[in-house]
Amino acid sequence: MAINVVILAAGQGKRMYSRRPKVLHELAGRPLIAHVIETARALGAGRICVVYGHGGEQVPQTMKSPDIVFARQEPQLGTGHALQQALPHLSAAATTLVLYGDVPLVRPETLGAMLDRTKGVVVLTAELDEPTGYGRIVRDKTDRVTKIVEEKDASKAERKIREVNTGIMALPTRKIAGWLGKLKNHNSQGEYYLTDIVALALADGVAVKTTKTREAWEMMGVNSKTQLAQLERLYQAQAANRLLEQGVSLADPLRLDVRGQLTCGTDVRIDINCVLEGKVTLGADVEIGANCVLRNVEIGAGTRIEPFTHIDEAVIGAGCRVGPYARIRPGTRLGEDVHIGNFVEVKNSEVAAHSKANHLAYVGDSTVGRNVNIGAGTITCNYDGANKHRTVIEDDVHIGSDVQLVAPVTIGKGATIGAGATITKDAPPGKLTFTKAEQVTKPGWQRPQKKVRSEK
Ligand code: UD1
Ligand code: CA
Repeated sequence: MAINVVILAAGQGKRMYSRRPKVLHELAGRPLIAHVIETARALGAGRICVVYGHGGEQVPQTMKSPDIVFARQEPQLGTGHALQQALPHLSAAATTLVLYGDVPLVRPETLGAMLDRTKGVVVLTAELDEPTGYGRIVRDKTDRVTKIVEEKDASKAERKIREVNTGIMALPTRKIAGWLGKLKNHNSQGEYYLTDIVALALADGVAVKTTKTREAWEMMGVNSKTQLAQLERLYQAQAANRLLEQGVSLADPLRLDVRGQLTCGTDVRIDINCVLEGKVTLGADVEIGANCVLRNVEIGAGTRIEPFTHIDEAVIGAGCRVGPYARIRPGTRLGEDVHIGNFVEVKNSEVAAHSKANHLAYVGDSTVGRNVNIGAGTITCNYDGANKHRTVIEDDVHIGSDVQLVAPVTIGKGATIGAGATITKDAPPGKLTFTKAEQVTKPGWQRPQKKVRSEK
């Protein structure tokens, strides 16, 4: 079925106390509205129209995409007025589904069930123990919906109703303009309420049906930082449960944060307090130690990432050992069975199979061959203050401790570099190269003594 999706996102979100428009605050690392847009896409929305307003152009600038049109609502005169701004962008033949930019967890399945029933108006409702703040669904004696009343306009009896309006509705597009044209703002908030469309549809002889959400969290909106934090925990709990059900071992499902798309092979184990951002792919038998942050990373089978390791935009081969306390920066590719140890930073470098840098090193803008050993304290000096240069370390090289490799420089295959060397010229293959700083022992030297003031 062809559908138009309208996402209302012009409101200010006063209770967020922020300069950022509410819908751009992040849930699981992505703006609230990005979750809603993803849901709209999952439904196969032909057109997505986002109604924005508060916060100027930030929403269209952030969410720009070829399948989204933006309609500006200025000033913001209510949800009915907001939908009016979208009218020029709706295709008349398709049903229009209204979503809220600040209700991020509603599932495509729930909306799909709603859309299956459209031949009229369908309102998504929820039964809440604590309905305060929501519009109430008013029904007649035969249980038919008669109207939606906002809490601020509700009578005492109406306030006792526990069935609430989620705000999400499906509408016959051809009828919308006529109904919205009749909206009045004679209510406690002086706004044009979209909810009044229900009574107008009924008066027009159009059926109004409801679908109830099975899970109350689906319709929870974000109005404050407290609610945002609650939804974040809900989201993360669900993400963790999905992983457990797929067979991923989590030391504690409450202490994992997935902010993006995580794909795991079999027998993956993740220890506590890990943050996985963007697209993260973990091969079979990968182990992630405690307190690691991984962002846009691919990790090969059997690799172990030791605690407190930070990896950003990198590809790690199979059977590697990285960390503890390692930092792998963008553009890095590690081959199979590479060891990167504590306090080693690797940036924009390729390190081929079986090579090791186990302690305190910086490997930047480098091409490192196979079976290379990089000693503790070795630094590639890739930056001359203006430009960056490459260091090439060929296969089977052994670099002693505390070596500076001043790029551009090449260390030939099988070369050995002596400890403490400062290498500024290419080192030939198969040879020992070192720089001399001779050891001197000074005879008769005495360590200075602290002067003691003599007492009078
Ligand atoms: C609305 C519903 C209420 C429902 C509740 C569910 C109306 C009149 N009331 O109330 O029945 O129970 O949502 O969460 O519709 N927006 C605009 N332009 C505006 C005003 C709002 O785009 O002029 C957008 C907001 O950005 C937000 C959504 O519409 O995404 C809801 O607005 P909000 O002010 O939060 O409505 P509620 O008072 O919560
Ligand atoms: Ca709201």
